Amino acid sequence: MAMRFTTAAPQYQVLPDYLKETGYKNPVDETKTAFQVAFNTSLNSYAWFASHPVQLDHFNTYMALRRKPDTTWLSVYSVEKEAANWPADKALYVNIGGSIGHQCAQFKEKYPHLQGRVILQDLPHSVANALPTPGVENIAHDMFEPQPIVGAKFYYLRAVLHNQSPPNVRRVLDNIKAVMAPESILLIDELVLPESGVSYIASSIDMTMLSAFASTERTEAQWRKTFEEAGLELTRTYTYYPTGYESVMDVRLPRAKSTNAEI
Ligand SMILES: C[S@@+](CC[C@H](N)C(=O)[O-])C[C@H]1O[C@@H](n2cnc3c(N)ncnc32)[C@H](O)[C@@H]1O
Repeated sequence: MAMRFTTAAPQYQVLPDYLKETGYKNPVDETKTAFQVAFNTSLNSYAWFASHPVQLDHFNTYMALRRKPDTTWLSVYSVEKEAANWPADKALYVNIGGSIGHQCAQFKEKYPHLQGRVILQDLPHSVANALPTPGVENIAHDMFEPQPIVGAKFYYLRAVLHNQSPPNVRRVLDNIKAVMAPESILLIDELVLPESGVSYIASSIDMTMLSAFASTERTEAQWRKTFEEAGLELTRTYTYYPTGYESVMDVRLPRAKSTNAEI
């Protein structure tokens, strides 16, 4: 709730005027959205958070509490099957844009026996507040820079790409694809919208993406096209919270097909 009052509500207040002044066109530049008008800044949202620790704290708390532990991707995806016999010296799970590491902690808690490095990556101001979870490496990394962890089993991003404009999404995907091995799996955990009849809650999230990030929520066809344009293949979508359309998409290098079965 604090996040909504401090960060989301001011954007909504200015959105009608912003849209009127910009001719009711979708914004395409993440530094020229309703967010910049609301907070009188030229910075994009995440750069702005770096110098606004109170709002950052509210945001990180919101992300950590957004889903109960039993309604995450871990309830539908066969992690153990995919990660069988994974070597201890290689990266098992790289959580890119993982905030303060709440999902790394959940992963480690559910699969303490799985071998391989578990790594949180986020911007320095988030990693500075990261949970000290035993067995999790907290690394400051900008996803627009080349990915330093090569050949991991899982590269996982939840609610990261929907905060980015289409050209930026492509930059992130290119950086990950460049280090994927044939056995790597890119897991994109996002809303996967139906083609029509979207709920008002998902619609409001879509409006927040528009007003803060010049971005959008997407249907499965839109996600598939996004991956294809980056030379990647959506092999399967697992929906774990149907009411909210929350789903994890299994994305691979072409020809490395999924053997994962829904559980
Ligand atoms: C909506 S939050 C999602 C956080 C987390 N994945 C979750 O689902 O709880 C988006 C995250 O992306 C991170 N982020 C934004 N830009 C980034 C960048 N250039 N490099 C790395 N992380 C970034 C933010 O700091 C934030 O933690």
